[in-house]
Amino acid sequence: MYIDYVIQPGGTLRGRLRVPGDKSISHRAIILGSLADGVTPTHGLLEARDVLATMAAFRAMGVEFSMPAERRLAIQGVGLHGLKPPAGTLDMGNSGTAMRLMAGVLAAQAFDSELTGDASLQTRPMRRVAEPLNAMGAAITTAFGGRPPLSISGGRRLHGIDYVMPVASAQVKSALLLAGLYATGVTSVTEPARSRDHTERMLRAFGCEVERYGRTVRVRGGARLSACEVDIPGDLSSAAFLIVGAAIAPHSDLTIEDVGINPTRSGVLNVLRRMGAQFWLTNEREISGEPVADIQVKSSRLKGIAIPEDQVSLTIDEFPVLFVAAACAKGETVLRGAKELRVKESDRIAVMAQGLKDLGVDAQETVDGIVIHGGPLSGGEVHSHGDHRVAMAFSMAGLRAEAPITVHDCENVDTSFPGFVELARRAGLSITAVNREP
Ligand code: S3P
Repeated sequence: MYIDYVIQPGGTLRGRLRVPGDKSISHRAIILGSLADGVTPTHGLLEARDVLATMAAFRAMGVEFSMPAERRLAIQGVGLHGLKPPAGTLDMGNSGTAMRLMAGVLAAQAFDSELTGDASLQTRPMRRVAEPLNAMGAAITTAFGGRPPLSISGGRRLHGIDYVMPVASAQVKSALLLAGLYATGVTSVTEPARSRDHTERMLRAFGCEVERYGRTVRVRGGARLSACEVDIPGDLSSAAFLIVGAAIAPHSDLTIEDVGINPTRSGVLNVLRRMGAQFWLTNEREISGEPVADIQVKSSRLKGIAIPEDQVSLTIDEFPVLFVAAACAKGETVLRGAKELRVKESDRIAVMAQGLKDLGVDAQETVDGIVIHGGPLSGGEVHSHGDHRVAMAFSMAGLRAEAPITVHDCENVDTSFPGFVELARRAGLSITAVNREP
């Protein structure tokens, strides 16, 4: 069964709400909690398909999880060397994060394993993790063209390397740091631009020393992880849809509570501020080593900008909805240096440019970005290509459209944002999910 979203034009977003837990932090809590000594109590973990795939993989390797109370998952850590061989292939579903981070863990185990995923994940590049892990002594083979499935031979002795990443990727960095926990000597990773640092923060919280010098981060093998409590903030990447929605819809005044605002993730706020969005951060505090705030957003008169290239890696998942903001802004928005968007859950440059054109917006893709001229949105039919963030971005476009918008293939929204339709509707978006036969 396929799911389409039908959004009636207009509306305004108002009230106070929370979005589900941060996906990146949730994956890491499961991974580090499973590999720690002792029990890791978590609060606010994202219960969405991507995170459940990581959890299922550890369950298949002997880790037990319990839910002593609502939104409280406890992870019974087995220690770095306590995983058992899984009975079959580990299916990471739609999640690139799960596959790449797990590759780092599995490369260091005593047993063989195989990682696979859904049709979208099967098209995504995996040499970027397989090659540096193999340089550490791992034995990982990819399928044709460097794509999944990944076959990982166990029983290898890993050694630390100094790796200079060709692209800024928190997934690759994290895979190497996780493998580095098992390696002899020091594993050092240098990134060309800052990528999200949740792994480094959480490793420290679990008692592991992680050093950072400029763009280089290092771990030493042989340490142990000690279980600790992990509180997970709301996901800024999910909040971003509602933040943009409130900024583009007239008469909006929306507050989203307890959102993670880690500076390696919050480029979307910097970009929106430059575009003239009116929002305020209040109640700023730190939860489990991560900065958190409430974000209040009001209707704003947005203007097109040249997005600074140094914001790209800090904004990487928020471009689909920022393109919708650009379509509602006065003037031209130009994005460059964002080729990575072509290898996400879909080719987000091509798919967003096509969808915006289908809604009557002047959007031109370039090799590594897009040029969007703000103007009226006509309404009509767009395709998400199975990409959760594309589906949610086009849903927000309904707030400024002249006619209804139908977004096709929205089944994957619950990989990251379960309850999106209900929450968006509660805030004021006229959105309905409709089942459709294949
Ligand atoms: C993520 C890193 C980013 C991001 C993804 C989540 C993570 O991917 O796009 O949604 O949790 O580490 P890259 O590392 O490929 O940039």
